[in-house]
Amino acid sequence: MRGTGSHGVMKMTVIGCGYLGATHAACMAELGHEVLGVDVDAAKIDSLAAGTVPFFEPGLDDVLRRNLAAGRLRFTTDFAEAARFGRIHFLGVGTPQQQTSGAADLTALRSAVRELVGHLRGAHLIVGKSTVPVGTCVELADEIAALARHASVDLAWNPEFLREGFAVDDTLRPDRIVVGTDPRRTTAGVAPGGAAQTPAAQTPAAQTLAEVYRSIIDDGTPYLTMDWATAELVKVSANAFLATKISFINAISEICEVAGGDVTALADAIGHDARIGRRFLNAGLGFGGGCLPKDIRAFAARAEELGVGPALSFLREVDEVNMRRRAALVGMVERACDGSVLGRNVAVLGAAFKPESDDVRDSPALAVAAQLSLRGARVAVFDPKAMVNAARVFPTLRYADSAPAAARDAEVVIVATEWAEFVHMTPAELSGAVRRRLIIDARRCLDGAAWAAAGWDYRALGSSEGGPAAPRMSVSGVTASSESLV
Ligand SMILES: NC(=O)c1ccc[n+]([C@@H]2O[C@H](COP(=O)([O-])OP(=O)(O)OC[C@H]3O[C@@H](n4cnc5c(N)ncnc54)[C@H](O)[C@@H]3O)[C@@H](O)[C@H]2O)c1
Repeated sequence: MRGTGSHGVMKMTVIGCGYLGATHAACMAELGHEVLGVDVDAAKIDSLAAGTVPFFEPGLDDVLRRNLAAGRLRFTTDFAEAARFGRIHFLGVGTPQQQTSGAADLTALRSAVRELVGHLRGAHLIVGKSTVPVGTCVELADEIAALARHASVDLAWNPEFLREGFAVDDTLRPDRIVVGTDPRRTTAGVAPGGAAQTPAAQTPAAQTLAEVYRSIIDDGTPYLTMDWATAELVKVSANAFLATKISFINAISEICEVAGGDVTALADAIGHDARIGRRFLNAGLGFGGGCLPKDIRAFAARAEELGVGPALSFLREVDEVNMRRRAALVGMVERACDGSVLGRNVAVLGAAFKPESDDVRDSPALAVAAQLSLRGARVAVFDPKAMVNAARVFPTLRYADSAPAAARDAEVVIVATEWAEFVHMTPAELSGAVRRRLIIDARRCLDGAAWAAAGWDYRALGSSEGGPAAPRMSVSGVTASSESLV
């Protein structure tokens, strides 16, 4: 346990126990707090209560079990129990993309708030961690005020920046803590008139959350307080920037593909400029997952609603560049198969949207596997951790239980997610299995020269086909496999 000392122990609930919420709940207990995790998914709650994380997140099992055993962490589906348990309630429910537009779907968030607030008595603080469109706090605060008949409920937004695969460390040692609060709030309640009254750092919510995060702040983590709108915007702006950086280098890789440049050497060279930086400049198959794609779409949709759509129209292009990488890879495989993949055996190594995660939401690897299958290829997929989730989304693909098994009789092998076991795989591990020695490195994470030396036709997405092999990333200690998308 990273202790706050008994004087700093607080009681809190975490509502929504998915990738974000389960991690947050376990890590708050790790700080020494008493935590109750809440979710509508009874199977998830049973699993967490039994000490099994229902998804893959390195290190989280240990933190979960240690804190369950210490009695600091419990789980329930009962909102009435949550309302009685403590006065601080974190919200970590999903905010996915709406099915008929790019905007965020806040149905689950609203429903969680409704469920909770109806049971509250006395003074409480609700702290949103989910990623939401700017303006959500203002709307939710009105809804909460209308629902809270027997309680005084304050609202803060504390966006989360954790990366799957590094979630425990990111939660316990974040780059910064961002807290948006209601400037009308004083310890006496909401000041009349609605005008800004209290500096953000001195609002009761900011002071309460400073106590929650005391040991992290004492370690030197910047604690940034601001108004609701800014906090909401910080999160989506950060993701918009990261997505733009990835799509920038992928757009440049489109030029390299036709002009013959080496996008990896280019990224190394421009990355030496501290103003640019080398991280998030790895060309390849682009971003996916449960955050970046839906967050940039929701941000653009919100800008439209606010009448400033042109301000973020570039995010549409960022999205287009990203999606074109998937199409480019499918095209590369087709060309490798003389124009058609119909009836050809293709091995896809990787199904998760990035390594060290079992998350397949909007996974580029899986999208490409499905596209090839739709075009008639016989696709075999292997992923170290994401097989169950992948099979749930695309049950008709064939799933092999190892990379060599997926590669058996393959005419093309694709590395679509840069798991360490693929990065460090030797050509000899696959040479005996395949029908043809052709590997497409869609993450530019392999040692192309080593594969070529072993008699393989090595091709990298983002390089001109038939051009020089892309060197493995090595500059500044940043390799494709050590970097991870949010
Ligand atoms: N996953 C990440 O890496 C990450 C990082 C930063 C921010 N976020 C944001 O955090 C939020 C959650 O993301 P996630 O990846 O954890 O999603 P998730 O789908 O893994 O988890 C969401 C959880 O909310 C639960 N839920 C749904 N409706 C509920 C309700 N009414 N009451 C209680 N629980 C309910 C679901 O059962 C599920 O367990 C999103 O807004 C996301 O953008 C996620």
